[in-house]
Amino acid sequence: MTDYDLMRRQLESLSEGVTWDITVLSNAAALIWESLDDINWAGFYLMKDGKLLLGPFQGKTACTVIETGKGVCGTAVAEDRTQLVKNVHEFPGHIACDSASNSEIVIPIHAGGSVYGVLDIDSPLIARFTEDDRAGLEAAVAVLEEVIKKLQGGSEMKTIYLAGGCFWGTQKFFDQFDGVIRTEVGYANGPDSAPSYEDVCASSGHAETVLIEYDEERISLEKILDNYFMVIDPVAVNRQGHDSGIQYRTGIYYTDPDMLPAIRKVYEEKEKMIGVPLAVELKPLENFFRAEEYHQKYLDKNPGGYCHIPRALLNLKEK
Ligand code: SME
Repeated sequence: MTDYDLMRRQLESLSEGVTWDITVLSNAAALIWESLDDINWAGFYLMKDGKLLLGPFQGKTACTVIETGKGVCGTAVAEDRTQLVKNVHEFPGHIACDSASNSEIVIPIHAGGSVYGVLDIDSPLIARFTEDDRAGLEAAVAVLEEVIKKLQGGSEMKTIYLAGGCFWGTQKFFDQFDGVIRTEVGYANGPDSAPSYEDVCASSGHAETVLIEYDEERISLEKILDNYFMVIDPVAVNRQGHDSGIQYRTGIYYTDPDMLPAIRKVYEEKEKMIGVPLAVELKPLENFFRAEEYHQKYLDKNPGGYCHIPRALLNLKEK
């Protein structure tokens, strides 16, 4: 199994001091090629004049141009979402560059407010790619997006930390929004040493919190917070849904005081609407410890798992 945490860190260090995006993507293709078992192609197609053109890759020679909407890659661009294809022969319009390919994953890459290209990985095995691969590779793509944006001189990603009850559902809820680049669950604003989940459940003082990295050109902080208030009970103290305890308190934790006016605007609006003081903490982030791996994207790994947020709100796009 691929260690995607390690891959993310490797991508970060491979990107240090690099001044051309193609350099980063070349090393990324080589790193992915080395890190995943049972693959026969890994690389990038990049948007140019409305089409996908072949970029850095590892594997056999491949087709050079893919129209938007065509093949798995073009579909990922047209639908602007990851395509996880268990059997490429059942995917209408699949483009077979290498007849050995049987399954494929394609992830769109964004920069400068639009689709910059895709990461494409092929495997000779049927159903090679799992939800874990999807989550890990999307996190890797988030690293690349940040690097590419910096190189393009565009805005950097912003990060806000939201505690909204059980972090399984809160993460799943935020993962559905365009412009949310990466999420991570963890334990925030408790004592200054990394707790285990058991410590947190025994009232260590940390709040179950979701780190939300977002592209403010695609989703505003106000919109993120409006969504947040859609899924919390903002007057409940240390309780959300069926969960109670200090780790289920609600909180908006910021790292950049420049975010405060936008946060206060939404907060005060909600408070006025409800007519009583909110129980939602509004504080600077004091600390955040990434939770154990099995908690990350928990509801993707366990689709029937417990969730305090109504299922209908986890997939608003399909409404
Ligand atoms: N199979 C892809 C084409 C690119 S190759 O896999 C390298 C597709 O259908 O878009």
